[in-house]
Amino acid sequence: MTIRSMSVAAAVRTRRTVRHYRPDAVPAATLDALLDLAVEAPTSWNLQDRSIVAVTSQEGREGLVWATGGQPQPQEAPVVLVFVAEPQSWREDHNDVYDQARRNGAWNDEFIAMFSAASKAFQEDLDRRGLLREYAIKDAMIAAAYVMLAATEMGLATSPMNGWDEAEVKKVIGIGDRDDLAIALLVSVGYPAEDRHHPGRRPVERNVFHQRYGSRRMPHIPE
Ligand SMILES: Cc1cc2nc3c(=O)[nH]c(=O)nc-3n(C[C@H](O)[C@H](O)[C@H](O)COP(=O)(O)O)c2cc1C
Repeated sequence: MTIRSMSVAAAVRTRRTVRHYRPDAVPAATLDALLDLAVEAPTSWNLQDRSIVAVTSQEGREGLVWATGGQPQPQEAPVVLVFVAEPQSWREDHNDVYDQARRNGAWNDEFIAMFSAASKAFQEDLDRRGLLREYAIKDAMIAAAYVMLAATEMGLATSPMNGWDEAEVKKVIGIGDRDDLAIALLVSVGYPAEDRHHPGRRPVERNVFHQRYGSRRMPHIPE
């Protein structure tokens, strides 16, 4: 496994969406290292309410080609990661999470009691407002962003994908009957067979504001 040293800023600047891949497999140890970094991503209330399914089989990737309406990435990339949001998983027992935080010296009993009650109340409110799916998808998307940057550091190319039929993706990963789960994003991973130029971004001033949406920063006045 080759892990090059690259700053986070360099990964952010050089990552591109790559749609064509060489057929070379991603070594298992490299994929494991990538997925290990993915689950380091933060989640709301540390609920860890997202999972990742790594699809590498020919059959699975063919299913994803169908589900994505024939996009080239699942046809060519040796790995497609499916980010699954778990909007109902907050209802399950989270004592393993609390025990780990306790062992790590991160959270004490008092904090855990407060945190677990507050997170339950928060999630119940989301449930009343029909927002559980949206919030679990946020958590899955942050993990996907971690993957894209970590992969860049490992010399791997990626492509995020929004264009797919959710029911078909679910069938491929064996959750065709699970209404309690949602697909957040697909990310292809592999070795690039094309060089992509940066398509560019609008000037920072177009999308970055200070204090109020739409407000430009006051020019700096020297003392
Ligand atoms: C949430 C999301 C979904 C996307 N879905 C697709 C997709 O289905 N197919 C595709 O070819 N590119 C997809 N893209 C890639 C974008 O077109 C690409 O990120 C954008 O053009 C900027 O290029 P860059 O990633 O190289 O900076 C998606 C990007 C994002 C963030």
